[in-house]
Amino acid sequence: SLPLSLSLSLSLSLSLYERLLIKGGRVVNDDQSFYADVYVEDGVIKQVGENLVVPGGVRVVEAEGRMVIPGGIDTNTCLNKAYLDSPPVDDFYQGTKAALAGGTTMIIDHVTPQPGTSLLQVFEQWQEVADRKCCCDYSLHVDIPQWDEGVKDELEVLVQEKGINSFQVYMAYKDLFQMTDTQLYEAFSFLSNLGAVVLVHAENGDLIAQEQKKILEMGITGPEGHPLSRPEELEAEAVFRAITIGNRVNCPVYITRVMSKSAADTLTQARRKGCVVFGEPLTASLATDGSHYWNRNWAKAAACVTSPPLSPDPTTPQHLHTLLACGDLQVVGSGHCAYSTAQKAIGKDNFTLIPEGTNGLEERMGFVWDRAAALGKMDENQFVAVTSTNAAKIFNLYPRKGRIAVGSDADIVIWDPDRIKTITAKLQQSALEYNIFEGMECRGVPVLVVSQGRVVYEDDKLNVQQGTGRFIPRKPFPDHAYQRINTRNKVIGRQAVSRGVYDGPVYDVPSTPKYITPAPSAKTSPTTQQPPPIRNLHQSNFSLSGAQVDDNVPRRSGHRIIAPPGGRSNITSLG
Ligand SMILES: *[C@@H]1O[C@H](CO)[C@@H](O)[C@H](O)[C@H]1NC(C)=O
Ligand SMILES: *[C@@H]1O[C@H](CO)[C@@H](O)[C@H](O)[C@H]1NC(C)=O
Ligand SMILES: *[C@@H]1O[C@H](CO)[C@@H](O)[C@H](O)[C@H]1NC(C)=O
Repeated sequence: SLPLSLSLSLSLSLSLYERLLIKGGRVVNDDQSFYADVYVEDGVIKQVGENLVVPGGVRVVEAEGRMVIPGGIDTNTCLNKAYLDSPPVDDFYQGTKAALAGGTTMIIDHVTPQPGTSLLQVFEQWQEVADRKCCCDYSLHVDIPQWDEGVKDELEVLVQEKGINSFQVYMAYKDLFQMTDTQLYEAFSFLSNLGAVVLVHAENGDLIAQEQKKILEMGITGPEGHPLSRPEELEAEAVFRAITIGNRVNCPVYITRVMSKSAADTLTQARRKGCVVFGEPLTASLATDGSHYWNRNWAKAAACVTSPPLSPDPTTPQHLHTLLACGDLQVVGSGHCAYSTAQKAIGKDNFTLIPEGTNGLEERMGFVWDRAAALGKMDENQFVAVTSTNAAKIFNLYPRKGRIAVGSDADIVIWDPDRIKTITAKLQQSALEYNIFEGMECRGVPVLVVSQGRVVYEDDKLNVQQGTGRFIPRKPFPDHAYQRINTRNKVIGRQAVSRGVYDGPVYDVPSTPKYITPAPSAKTSPTTQQPPPIRNLHQSNFSLSGAQVDDNVPRRSGHRIIAPPGGRSNITSLG
């Protein structure tokens, strides 16, 4: 008889991998739809077509003309991100259950190291927990909490040995994660040389800190202080700056959490000028708005606290859907980060202390269908693109993920575009006691979900096992982000002009010049010092003899300025 370990592993692999025939469905990829059957074996799609010849004993699932789509990919989850040492209520197990129940078969979670810790160590901790708990495939983005020399070696190891090709940097969270423009410039150049995709949390952290102080001083301590201190222009400004820096160093930029119309429009305009930039709105920004921050029920208001905040402008969700539909925004994430009301209440007297994050993992695909596809704003292929395929392309998972095709992983969803579901915390997979979309109706639901070739969700029931999700490594230089970048690097030649040596006279600079522009950081700026007068060579007739035409014009002394900087004005009347 077989040794125990071998027979155990045999039965395990048999239970993991089913042979499955999905019959009579309409296969929908990002670029085409067609009626076909799909045959799955060993966790991989083996055949796609009509009248397939398959082995006996295969499980047959009737799709009955419904859509057969690649499983969703959620590019933004935080399932292991503790707030002041308390973990979110949805961990990798609870969270991936919610994912599968919503038609998402892969997540990319954010590793969020604190400043001063080793990225590599925190990454490995994350991976260890995820390996134990995930019940769908996963990958990881690594957030960079601080930019310094030490981080570079770890980034190299993560890209070259650990299968990570995306890193997040922060323009907000002053004195914690926020990077200066100089640091962003260095980080972008370093990461683009590694072939990584730079994710940017784009909000102006300096101005937020000032606004928060101001709002608290006005006596506003509740959740409404959150959007009041983070008006959307601070998001749009940072998006513009991030793209500008990306452009300077030829680095692809991915804006996580596009929450407002002006941020989305800024990104759209940059794309139209040829910038390599991608945008990711979240479930919450696509399905609801910031009016809830003014709810009289503190818990309901606090539940929506996330950054950038939901926009109080109620036309935001439709605008974001329109941009997704036409391809100006590319990817829908959930930003799922689930803190209980008791955890949110750490900030009950001070909105700046409310842990940030909303739910949205389970609802992500449904709302895109309901608010865009079901209204005729978006076609079914674009629905697949923004919920799955584009993410797979940008993060180098394609076509293993994000496509129904021979050789792709068997992560498949049978999608019913007509069924309506009412969202309620009572019936959700998430362990949260609330749902920010409570009571909303949503048309479009997954009726059957296949993950790694196994039916894991059917008839509203999950059949999953902790630890079956695999870490999916990702190679650097994804074509979708880097093909243009690499070509531009070759064709953009920056060369010095070759010209003769200037052999004319050179102004004699004093050895300790007094007029050097002070560095912005210098505390004392010598306002009374000005550059010495320099002869205007264009206006005066310059002669090598030394005698000048303006010799007789008295020269101003530059070293003692009587007029204040900016000039004194003596305007007695405006008429
Ligand atoms: C609120 O919390 C912030 C820290 O985020 C702190 O700086 C500030 O003093 C607190 N303000 C009040 C009024 O409690
Ligand atoms: C410069 O010199 C030329 C001829 O040497 C003269 O015609 C011209 O007026 C001079 N220009 C000025 C600004 O003095
Ligand atoms: C402004 O001009 C008026 C007359 O033109 C003069 O009397 C006055 O002293 C001037 N004030 C200053 C501050 O220069």
